[in-house]
This record gives sequence, structure tokens and C-alpha cells, in this order.
Amino acid sequence: MKRIFLFLVIFTLFAIGFAAAENLKPNRAFEGAPPTIPHSVEGMDDCLICHKEGVGKAVKTPHPERVNCDQCHIAQ
Ligand code: HEC
Ligand code: HEC
Repeated sequence: MKRIFLFLVIFTLFAIGFAAAENLKPNRAFEGAPPTIPHSVEGMDDCLICHKEGVGKAVKTPHPERVNCDQCHIAQ
């Protein structure tokens, strides 16, 4: 019984560790590279609805004049 408990604790710690590592992964190939898109793009034709002014948690685009986002930003 004790062993099962120990196993569960270790397993949980591993799971949390992996989840944290996944979150820390950079979404840029290098400093200054266009970040990949961390969300689904299905049905989103107008990226600027959110990214022009930074609606909600959306990151404000530093370059609203570049219209064809998918030319540089890749969905993951
Ligand atoms: C409904 C609002 C909304 C729309 C529409 C939208 N996004 Fe986003 N976007 C967000 C939010 C919120 C985030 C913040 C992070 C997240 O989702 O994890 C984000 C994050 C991003 C990032 C990452 C920025 C960074 O610095 O890491 C990129 C790149 C991006 N979006 C590109 C796009 C592109 C390209 C489109 C159009 C196909 C688009 N987004 C449409 C809300 C939106
Ligand atoms: C010509 C290539 C190109 C196009 C087209 C483009 N981007 Fe970008 N984008 C970049 C690059 C390069 C960066 C990284 C800039 C930096 O880190 O200084 C970037 C960064 C971003 C960021 C992150 C800003 C931050 O501070 O983290 C967002 C959000 C974004 N772009 C959204 C968009 C949206 C929305 C569109 C379409 C309306 C778009 N981009 C079109 C090249 C492009």
C-alpha cells in the first residue's frame, strides 16, 4: 500500500514537470523570428480583430500593416 502511494507521488511530480517544460518551450526559432501561432486558426480569417489592439489576452501585433499573417506565422 505504501509503495503505491509513493509511486503516485512520483508520477504526479513527473507529470507536473513535463507540463511545465511544455509551457516553457519557445515558439520562436530564434530571437526576433516570427512566433508560431499557439491557438487554432480554424475559421479565423481576420487575425487583426484580436491582434490589432490586443483584445483580451491577445498579443498586440508590432506590425499591423503586414496583412498576410500566414506568410510568416505558422500554426503549430
Ligand atoms: C479571438 C481572438 C484571436 C484571433 C482572431 C487570433 N488570435 Fe492570435 N492570439 C490570441 C490570443 C488570446 C493569444 C495569446 C496566447 C494564447 O492563445 O496562448 C494569441 C497569440 C498569437 C500569437 C503568439 C504571439 C507570441 O508572442 O507568442 C501569434 C503569432 C498569433 N496569435 C497569430 C495569429 C494569427 C496569424 C491569427 C489569424 C489566423 C490570429 N492570431 C487570430 C487571440 C486571437
Ligand atoms: C513579413 C512577415 C510577417 C508577417 C506577414 C506578419 N508577421 Fe507578425 N511577426 C513577424 C516577426 C519577424 C515577428 C517577431 C518580431 C520581434 O520579435 O521583434 C512577429 C511578431 C508578431 C507577434 C508577437 C509580438 C510580440 O510582442 O510578441 C504577433 C502577435 C504577430 N506578429 C501577429 C501578426 C499578425 C496578426 C499578422 C497578420 C495580420 C502578422 N503578424 C503578419 C513577421 C510577420
